[in-house]
Amino acid sequence: TFVVTENCIKCKYQDCVEVCPVDCFYEGPNFLVIHPDECIDCALCEPECPANAIFSEDELPENQKAFIKINADLAQIWPNITEIGERPADGKEWDGKPNKLPLLER
Ligand code: SF4
Ligand code: F3S
Repeated sequence: TFVVTENCIKCKYQDCVEVCPVDCFYEGPNFLVIHPDECIDCALCEPECPANAIFSEDELPENQKAFIKINADLAQIWPNITEIGERPADGKEWDGKPNKLPLLER
């Protein structure tokens, strides 16, 4: 399965949702997650993310492992998203900033 990681927080570009053939992205206030049971491992979303926030679970950086459970948990309570909606106005400023996990709104 593929996993959305920390750099998506507050960037939330949403390019990823447009290419997913099984519509398995779910949307929170400032982050998106992938439903691990619905993702078919097609890898289409990974190169679409301008923030490079999407990884195959097998290739997750060590310091991003917590996002496996974050994606699994939040995909069960957040609504589905299939089209790009409003992007955060200051998203670009947050791209690449470290330690964004405490800023994740649930
Ligand atoms: Fe969707 Fe494919 Fe990305 Fe999985 S790998 S979330 S199926 S686009
Ligand atoms: Fe997030 Fe990248 Fe999608 S920033 S919303 S994972 S395009």
